Amino acid sequence: MNSKDPFRDSDYLQKNQYKDSSNLDARAELHRRFSTAKVRWQPWVFDLVPLEPGMRVLECGCGPGWLWRESVTRLPADCHITLTDLSPGMVAEAEAALAESAHQFAFQPANIQALEFADEAFDVVVANHMLYHVPDLAQGLAEVRRVLKPNGRFIAATNGDEHMKELPLLIPDEVRQRVASWRMRRNAKQLPFRLENGRQLLEPYFAHVKLHEYDDSLWVTDADLLVAYAFSMIRPEMDVPETAVTQIRDLWAAKIVADGGIHISKHSGVFEAYK
Ligand SMILES: C[S@@+](CC[C@H](N)C(=O)[O-])C[C@H]1O[C@@H](n2cnc3c(N)ncnc32)[C@H](O)[C@@H]1O
Repeated sequence: MNSKDPFRDSDYLQKNQYKDSSNLDARAELHRRFSTAKVRWQPWVFDLVPLEPGMRVLECGCGPGWLWRESVTRLPADCHITLTDLSPGMVAEAEAALAESAHQFAFQPANIQALEFADEAFDVVVANHMLYHVPDLAQGLAEVRRVLKPNGRFIAATNGDEHMKELPLLIPDEVRQRVASWRMRRNAKQLPFRLENGRQLLEPYFAHVKLHEYDDSLWVTDADLLVAYAFSMIRPEMDVPETAVTQIRDLWAAKIVADGGIHISKHSGVFEAYK
């Protein structure tokens, strides 16, 4: 088994976890179906991206392009948006989804740690739920600062310590023990870039940092989707016995019948930063 931290192992992320959007989609589906928020996450983030006609925008770690897919009709004219991701598979999906849209985008694979763009090339840089994957965060943030214009904005979304805190507790101990290398999920307190430490990590690069918190929680009424979410985070090479999966699904299904649903806390937000 790879001994590197999978969360910041760029090779693993690119070739396995994010080779395409299937794992991400299993997680997003749970949020789409069971979120209690008034405004869905991606449109909420989109509203915090300061966009004006003619602006140049870079997204790092764009995934399948969800941020833009949902709000493409709201984009100002001749806004030049470049979508990048470490994973060529993600870039290809974003491109396929947005190719026919009314707005023109540029696409290219790119690692935030080594951006092939000129100094001060962008008015806005977006990093939506991706900074916690960057092995050398200082290098990544220095790159973002370098490519931003002097009055440019950096929009960085992440999770906080309370995010999905109930999920590991929903796994009974005896099941956890039967799965040798179980990584149910990383404890959010270990996220390298999170709501609690983001300001401190951004301030060496940006004089002004403001946090916008997102108000949300989940009320889950489908055990299969919760199982799909949980297993989307387990490294593919880990051999989880089918009996353990079934035991968890049955336990969660019984809880949903008894209580009407399963409550799961969320804790996410966006840092807005400028030089
Ligand atoms: C949790 S997903 C978020 C995707 C998208 N921003 C969203 O919110 O739907 C993290 C994304 O960051 C990408 N990523 C991970 N490390 C990266 C790096 N060093 N540079 C650029 N992208 C990276 C992954 O390939 C993945 O698509």
